[in-house]
Amino acid sequence: MTEKTPILEVKNLWVKLPDEEDYILRGMDLTIYPGEVHALMGPNGSGKSTLAKVLAGHPGYEVVDGEILFKGENILEMEPDERARAGLFLAFQYPMEVPGVTIANFMRLAYQRRFDKEVKYGDFYKILLQHLKKLEMDASFAARPVNEGFSGGEKKRFEIVQLSLLEPQLAVLDETDSGLDIDALKVVSNGVNLMRSPERSFLVITHYQRILNYITPDYVHVMVEGRVVRSGDAELAQQLEEKGYDWIRGELAAANT
Ligand SMILES: Nc1ncnc2c1ncn2[C@@H]1O[C@H](COP(=O)(O)OP(=O)(O)OP(=O)(O)O)[C@@H](O)[C@H]1O
Ligand SMILES: [Mg+2]
Repeated sequence: MTEKTPILEVKNLWVKLPDEEDYILRGMDLTIYPGEVHALMGPNGSGKSTLAKVLAGHPGYEVVDGEILFKGENILEMEPDERARAGLFLAFQYPMEVPGVTIANFMRLAYQRRFDKEVKYGDFYKILLQHLKKLEMDASFAARPVNEGFSGGEKKRFEIVQLSLLEPQLAVLDETDSGLDIDALKVVSNGVNLMRSPERSFLVITHYQRILNYITPDYVHVMVEGRVVRSGDAELAQQLEEKGYDWIRGELAAANT
């Protein structure tokens, strides 16, 4: 049997805000192997986005205990930019609005950083257009200013363009932006499905089972109060949809008495 190295290992992670006593992540564990798609679900405030931000290296959180290994290496010592270059992708680590800077200009810089090489503007434009075509997006998107006046669906499209161009080994998608219409949902899921490969892994954070109708995860985890309390396959997401999170909370309470 060959031993594969996990792409991501989160081990007993305890995280809080610097000036608070209460922990947000309370002994979080998560292991993702290459090629796997994991869905992370859980009620509001359970710590899903916090995990994503800590993975990205957000400076606003204090990691008090535990480890995060990306391809076997401790990333807690790495700057956000280094993490991205190592192949970790988080859509929101990019600025929310960059007035005046077009998607083409912005993405060229990100592309050059990721692959550590100079690419002429004209050459990059061609690459970008190929990706837009593959994703069935309009070529005019390339000339739009980054996120300026983007609708929720357009932001999601932009995330998927980034994902396609930057070819990360682990993509973390935080689908907290509810209110995505069915088209935006399909853009995100088609993008993920197109980019699924034996080398690439995904962590899809979501509230609802909805997106999982389009992306079939290999594993589903339920987070409650800062840790994974239940893991299973796609069937678990179905059960949650039917029974709600109180079902899990009820079981946890029963186990603790
Ligand atoms: N920067 C912050 N300042 C204050 N509180 C925070 C901060 N980040 C996280 N929290 C708190 O930590 C808890 C977890 O938040 P987080 O955003 O990780 O939850 P979530 O699981 O992503 O929720 P949702 O499903 O609503 O997106 C919440 O109680 C939230 O208020
Ligand atoms: Mg969230």
